[in-house]
Amino acid sequence: MIWRTASAITLCAALLAGCGQKPAETKTAANAASANAPKPLASIHELMLSVVDESADVIWNSVATISDATGVHEHRPQTDAEWAKVRHAAIALSESANLLAMEGRVVSHPGQKIDSEGQPGAPTGAIIQKRIDGDRASFVAYAAGLQAASMDAVAAIDRKDVAALEKVGGEIDEACEACHEQFWYPPTEPAAKPKA
Ligand code: HEC
Repeated sequence: MIWRTASAITLCAALLAGCGQKPAETKTAANAASANAPKPLASIHELMLSVVDESADVIWNSVATISDATGVHEHRPQTDAEWAKVRHAAIALSESANLLAMEGRVVSHPGQKIDSEGQPGAPTGAIIQKRIDGDRASFVAYAAGLQAASMDAVAAIDRKDVAALEKVGGEIDEACEACHEQFWYPPTEPAAKPKA
């Protein structure tokens, strides 16, 4: 990224006055702090699809045993670039846990249909929201569990330890399912009683 630094310096030289200046003063420090405070913009639904699921897939797919007509193929990161790719995903996944735990993050925005919605008994975003609001402590604890498993993945990757990475893949899956089982999967209606 050397060229980026170089071009930033060139840009500063060109703009002179602009560089190093603080953002415009706001009336009070408290105002400034609240205006610049982190804002949860994406819904949990969007985070699941754009960061959580994508990153987990890169980790899970990085170690695989595939049997086909030509035999059994062991798939694992080989080159530095392949190890870097899986590490980037593990970092994204561990930080996504912080995003999930942010106060004020909604399950879904109006018009966003969560997977399973519309199937008999499947909860809507509003119902999942109520479940989370009713037990935020557990939700945040599950996010922390996902973060811990993701950081174990980073450690395994840094050791280039394929067996550990595969094991951690299982732990990540358990962390996903623990949260889904409490907040997403439970049906809204009790299962129909079997006929006597
Ligand atoms: C802290 C809680 C939590 C954790 C941890 C979590 N999820 Fe989710 N996930 C949810 C909730 C709540 C929903 C249901 C609402 C929704 O669909 O976004 C959901 C929904 C999903 C969906 C469906 C999105 C859709 O189309 O509506 C996918 C895919 C998903 N999660 C993948 C994952 C994966 C993969 C992991 C682990 C790597 C994971 N989640 C970990 C809370 C969590």
